Amino acid sequence: MFSPTQRSLWTPAAPHIWAINATGSAAEDYVSVIRTLLDQPRWLEAQYLYDEHGSHLFEEICELPEYYLTRTENSILAECADQVISAAPVECIVELGSGTSKKTAHLLRQQIKQRGRGIFAPIDVSLSSLEASRDLISEEFPELTFNGLCARYEEGMSGVDKTVPKLFVFLGSTIGNFNRSEFSIFFRRLSQSMGPKDFLLLGVDRVKDTPLLEKAYDDSRGVTAEFILNVFRHVNRRLGSDFDRAKMRYHSWYNPQWQQIEMYAISTAAQEIHFPSFDTSFVWEENDRILVEISRKFEPRRLQSQLQFFGLKSVGHFTDPREWFSVLLFRKSQI
Ligand SMILES: C[S@@+](CC[C@H](N)C(=O)[O-])C[C@H]1O[C@@H](n2cnc3c(N)ncnc32)[C@H](O)[C@@H]1O
Repeated sequence: MFSPTQRSLWTPAAPHIWAINATGSAAEDYVSVIRTLLDQPRWLEAQYLYDEHGSHLFEEICELPEYYLTRTENSILAECADQVISAAPVECIVELGSGTSKKTAHLLRQQIKQRGRGIFAPIDVSLSSLEASRDLISEEFPELTFNGLCARYEEGMSGVDKTVPKLFVFLGSTIGNFNRSEFSIFFRRLSQSMGPKDFLLLGVDRVKDTPLLEKAYDDSRGVTAEFILNVFRHVNRRLGSDFDRAKMRYHSWYNPQWQQIEMYAISTAAQEIHFPSFDTSFVWEENDRILVEISRKFEPRRLQSQLQFFGLKSVGHFTDPREWFSVLLFRKSQI
């Protein structure tokens, strides 16, 4: 499953799960965190939301009555999985940002039904999510070879052998967490990592009424707020910083101009944030905001046209009766 030049870079992290031998990751984290925190507006990359507690909170969000995304995407996948797998004659399903892979089970079931075997390679920064995925998937599909990759998207994508026909799967509208520049970098890399017989299945949340969108990201139990503010505990642990959770609150809104939900942490009192290992600090002023996560909403036709420029040809579009969510199938093409 690994490309021959990459194989030696991966070592076992847990049974059936591999991690990349990353060098200088603390320094890289520092650069990526401080770069975005000093930006205007201040922001953070979505990957820092997913420590073990964050991954657990995300699972809780998926069950919330307000969070229609998971249920809707799951119902679409249940309907379209047989068509997707028959349109994509692949040996390997690579899931990006897989979480616990519950919805992906619809595709894996069809892979086994139609081909009797396959490789499942979920990629995620969260080891606890990959372990949950392994336990769930290996039990239900013993015929599948499970090879989890504990890595960032770009590391995992370039680790996988280009010559094996693959279906890349990117669900949960996770693509909506990328800003415009991250979006372009991601699709350029993904397209370069794809072989000539590869496909992409992309789940995206659609533009819709503001109240419905805003409720989905500000639930009555406060689980989303807890998920967003937990990022600072994770950053403190990784970088030795001293963000004070008691001096911040959560705020989210739908920005119609940018067609995105914006999720902020707002400082309720001025606090100086230190990064002792790196001998630096900055003052987070009272009422100043840090943009912790965005969730962009999409118009499927426009997205299909956009992705042509990354060598991805649209070959299928599945949606729900209310047209709240779309699952889009692409085939690798020449640019
Ligand atoms: C929004 S959740 C979606 C999970 C699952 N695909 C779903 O649809 O429910 C995003 C997932 O991507 C993972 N993730 C976030 N940033 C990542 C990165 N840079 N590289 C790899 N995985 C990442 C998180 O750990 C999390 O499991």
